[in-house]
Amino acid sequence: MCGIVGGIVDSNIVPTLLQGLLRLEYRGYDSCGLSISGESGLRRLRSISRVKDLAENARDLKSRSGLAHVRWASHGRPTIANAHPHFSPTAGEPLISVVHNGIIENYIELRARLIASGVSFASETDTEVIAHLVADLYRGDLLSAVREAIASMRGSFAIAVMSSRDPDRVVGARAGSPLLVGRAAGKSGYLVASDVLALAGVAGEAAYLEEGDVFAFSRDDVFILSAEGKAVERHWFAVSSSVSTPELGPFQHFMQKEIFEQPNALADTIDGVQADLVTAQRGEWDFGDVDSVLLLACGTSFHAAKIAAQWIETHCGIVANAEIASEYKYRVSVPGPNRLVVTVSQSGETIDTLTALRHAKRLGMTRSIAICNVGTSALVRESDRHLLTRAGLEVGVASTKAFTCQLAALFALTLAIGRAQGRLSEEMERDHLTQLQGLPDKVSAALALEPTIISWAQALQRREHVLFLGRGIHYAVAMEGALKMKEVSYIHADAYPAGELKHGPLALVTPEVPIVATAPNDELFEKLYSNLQEVRARRGFVYLLVDSDLSLESDDDLRILPVPLQRGPLAAILHTIPLQLLAYHIACLRQTDVDKPRNLAKSLTVE
Ligand code: F6R
Repeated sequence: MCGIVGGIVDSNIVPTLLQGLLRLEYRGYDSCGLSISGESGLRRLRSISRVKDLAENARDLKSRSGLAHVRWASHGRPTIANAHPHFSPTAGEPLISVVHNGIIENYIELRARLIASGVSFASETDTEVIAHLVADLYRGDLLSAVREAIASMRGSFAIAVMSSRDPDRVVGARAGSPLLVGRAAGKSGYLVASDVLALAGVAGEAAYLEEGDVFAFSRDDVFILSAEGKAVERHWFAVSSSVSTPELGPFQHFMQKEIFEQPNALADTIDGVQADLVTAQRGEWDFGDVDSVLLLACGTSFHAAKIAAQWIETHCGIVANAEIASEYKYRVSVPGPNRLVVTVSQSGETIDTLTALRHAKRLGMTRSIAICNVGTSALVRESDRHLLTRAGLEVGVASTKAFTCQLAALFALTLAIGRAQGRLSEEMERDHLTQLQGLPDKVSAALALEPTIISWAQALQRREHVLFLGRGIHYAVAMEGALKMKEVSYIHADAYPAGELKHGPLALVTPEVPIVATAPNDELFEKLYSNLQEVRARRGFVYLLVDSDLSLESDDDLRILPVPLQRGPLAAILHTIPLQLLAYHIACLRQTDVDKPRNLAKSLTVE
């Protein structure tokens, strides 16, 4: 979360900072800001609007060195005062400027200590303590002051710091949040960023800092100290000279574009994952002695994991549990030496998932597979093995194509485990694979339901609460539908297993609280349909997704949408498509910021 870019170059750095911020906006867009150093000391510009707005106001700024930041608010509301960079002191000439990603966990204690020593604070952030700590410890050597300050900080952070007294120096540190330094391309100068994306085209090469590293650079030189304080070299790699800017094409929003990209994304993922699994099984991947599977993920990826856990139990005959990563790492759990840990993540940078994986490893579960959309991510690097989804870049903050691609990859993995366990015959596996390969065409057919979904969206757009129901794996599909609805349309939505309704949530049902249910024509259909009759008997209005081979008619209080027929486990993917479209079109009607919903960010690197 949050994004950092900064540096010292031999021309005006402001366009580089602004371009970097634009590319980092996916990491947070609550506020943004930059500070530059000049003859009259440190100057700063901040905005609680988007980077475009900051850029408008920064048109006349010029400097060869500066720091910039996009913020996802954690401590303190998205106000100008809380926007980075933070300065110390708060009155008079600033001495120190700081940008920070992550969280300083002991900031309350540090803040109290600083206040007691006479320091006044201008913001509610944890970051501001860093600025004051460094200023307090500064005796003419910025590197020493930063190292001393870090020694008293607990938490997970990446920081970059400048001082007005030494404008030709940037010092920074990595402790739990990614940070890299770059050499300016074709000229002298050095840069720092929290994501290599911000350096494309401006740095010729870059090096990732390792845990505990501290760096200092000037225009001409850079050095890195390890956690032990020893001068170290890190691996420098070539930075791409350009970033391809994603195009919207004929679509209104990236979310819509990405929903419609699903047939191709799925086809690429299915081909890629199948090929990877064949190669892997010829090599050293052996699932024969796996006795259970633990799936770890967050948010939408957790919903994919939850569906996969049921697939694995059904088709592989071994215990499989999906756990919310942020919970798993803090509870006492029983490890299993032959348990396979499967992490699921679009970005591969979600700190909750990463730390859950590290926790599982510490417990002795060393066999891990990451299902991930980013091959260079931390999750892939830290996992024993990986299977990449090929969804392509997902720009919309609400995940759509990454989710269905995760499901496709998890299904292929399920089949591989089932075969190795002797639970699936070659013929059964072939049959499932044929179904999987036919999925992209069926998803295209499901996308053609958009006009009906638009009419549902028109009917639902003014509701403030919606309940989503499903049974079996379709409960997780309902959870995903509810999450999409909350995220982009800001309508309160909750999902329940349909049989649970009568145990409490039925009390919520009124003509004002509609129900959206996903009901494939499987062994649970009749049960679910009975649950819906209980809703209709209480004047609830039902929107029902069914398989296209069911002949059900819409009624005054019941709208039916037949979904292209897909029998069995993969129906979950088909039924997800209309729910994504529903959330999207309601969001459009409610005129929300579809691709950047309020309070959210695309990559969550703080706990
Ligand atoms: C919802 C959404 C989030 C992510 C979650 C995990 O639309 O995108 O719930 O799924 O933050 O992110 P990844 O998959 O990157 O680990």
